[in-house]
Amino acid sequence: MPASTLPGTSFDVIVIGGGAAGLSLALHLAPQARICLMTKGPLTEGATLYAQGGISAVLDKRDSIHSHIADTLDAGAGLCDEDVVRFVVEHGPEAVQWLIDCGVPFTRQTSAGGRTHFHLTREGGHSHRRVIHAEDATGRAVETTLEQQARQHTNISLFEHHIAIDLITGRKLGLALDEHTGDRCMGVYAFDRQNHQVDAFSARFVVLATGGAGKVYLYTSNPDVATGDGIAMAWRAGCRVANMEFVQFHPTCLYHPKAKSFLVTEAVRGEGGKLLLPDGTPFMHKFDARGELAPRDIVARAIDHEMKRTGSDYVLLDISHKSARFIKQHFPNVQARCLALGYDMAKEPIPVVPAAHYTCGGIMTDTVGRTDLAGLYAIGETAFTGLHGANRMASNSLLECLVFGKAASEHIQQQLPHTPAPPPLPAWDESRVTDSDEDVVVAHNWDEVRRFMWDYVGIVRTDKRLARAKSRVDLLLREINEYYGHFRVNNDLIELRNLALVADLIIRSAMQRKESRGLHYTLNHPAPDNSRSPSNTVLIPLNYADER
Ligand code: FAD
Ligand code: SIN
Repeated sequence: MPASTLPGTSFDVIVIGGGAAGLSLALHLAPQARICLMTKGPLTEGATLYAQGGISAVLDKRDSIHSHIADTLDAGAGLCDEDVVRFVVEHGPEAVQWLIDCGVPFTRQTSAGGRTHFHLTREGGHSHRRVIHAEDATGRAVETTLEQQARQHTNISLFEHHIAIDLITGRKLGLALDEHTGDRCMGVYAFDRQNHQVDAFSARFVVLATGGAGKVYLYTSNPDVATGDGIAMAWRAGCRVANMEFVQFHPTCLYHPKAKSFLVTEAVRGEGGKLLLPDGTPFMHKFDARGELAPRDIVARAIDHEMKRTGSDYVLLDISHKSARFIKQHFPNVQARCLALGYDMAKEPIPVVPAAHYTCGGIMTDTVGRTDLAGLYAIGETAFTGLHGANRMASNSLLECLVFGKAASEHIQQQLPHTPAPPPLPAWDESRVTDSDEDVVVAHNWDEVRRFMWDYVGIVRTDKRLARAKSRVDLLLREINEYYGHFRVNNDLIELRNLALVADLIIRSAMQRKESRGLHYTLNHPAPDNSRSPSNTVLIPLNYADER
């Protein structure tokens, strides 16, 4: 095969993903390394841009590290790694300070004595006010501030509209690697969506910061880019994944045919919003003493239960008892979106439903973001660090992105001087494929995966529903792999191949867990299995070799 790493496509570090995780890592590393920052759409498009509630950290004298740790462990239903929780929580204030120093305009408040301080809101599972935010559009403030810095940095080369297809490893290339180095990640093949060609990018280190996989479900709060690409690429390259059954459903997405699962931030409940049945009856007190501020798994399941019991398509979220001024001040973006769709949240309750929101599982990493494959790191929502356990607590995700972004950057920086650049990489081989004559297959399969995942692998599961989902995904995987082997790639096909694989990983993990815990609830085993200590669901690929 001809060597083909084109001029300008060889770097110290390739960062795939431009959300909070990828941008923070790139900015920390940029003074020391030449970085390729690759995103499949425009740089800012990803879950980070849409984050509303904020970032949790201990920032108030009345709060404590101990309390943030205890709340995270409690939400995680026995499966959090306590050392990782401590690591993240302890680094929280420093991570937030870094964002403040970068210029993120967090919301401030003036106290009665005339002093200004950052306003902290509350969300489910938190026993203190500890969520720093920029009105109700925290993610946009973080993303656009970091974006500006990345665009200005001479050491960061941006490759927008490039979708990574697969990692390039020494083993795949048949390179003779000595027994000490084993296999290694050397780069990535990426499809240039504007020029319709596949290029090879090489680097000494590759970082997956590709976000979650909410698009596996028909209804989701996630943007279109959230198709689990990083998890799928890492799995195909031989990395283990864990806890994929723990998909978080956010309790309150706006119910409206035109809303495309618009999120209504948990901070609305944090500031006193009540959940009601369509006839106005409150119900959360029947499910948990913490009511509307119970952890998300409990609230989403309670809503699902009440919707099924009453045959209703939605429940109501009511914050109309607060003044119009308060609502405008705290939730200007949610209010504007609701008004555009005909609901005035200052005057009336708004209809809401749960939707797939966050992937708690992912690529297994250690506390500096290393995966099973040498040279490959994973950070942010695509990674499984052990922080979230069986259920992520609100606003701990952006925090995890920032803390692991920095930790991984420091580790890579230490390794850079001793890591040689990879050899030139072979060009993408298109000698055996032609242009597709049946794009309808891709569109149909996209829809099918998302529909059966919603119907059979949703908030409430059963053995039978999971078995149904498994037989469908097996069939689809065969069909998609055959299609992939015959036709030239395009964006939809690349994503579909990943979506189906991630669906399979979720189903397999859910089938293995014979208990209900956190976000995994099954009618066949409706209680946690307390006969043994709780354990993670670890899936091991056939080509796995522990070489770290
Ligand atoms: P993302 O921000 O999703 O970025 C992923 C990046 O990877 C994108 O740039 C994308 O283009 C790129 N990418 C993906 N695949 C490829 C590929 N194959 N090739 C090239 N590039 C690729 N968490 C909180 O802590 N607080 C909140 O208030 C909060 N609110 C939320 C509200 C909404 C509506 C949503 C959806 C999530 C919210 N979350 C919140 C969760 C949080 O926003 C995400 O977990 C977090 O932003 C993930 O950041 P990330 O950097 O890992 O990925
Ligand atoms: C929200 O604002 O409700 C989302 C917070 C989160 O997902 O952490």
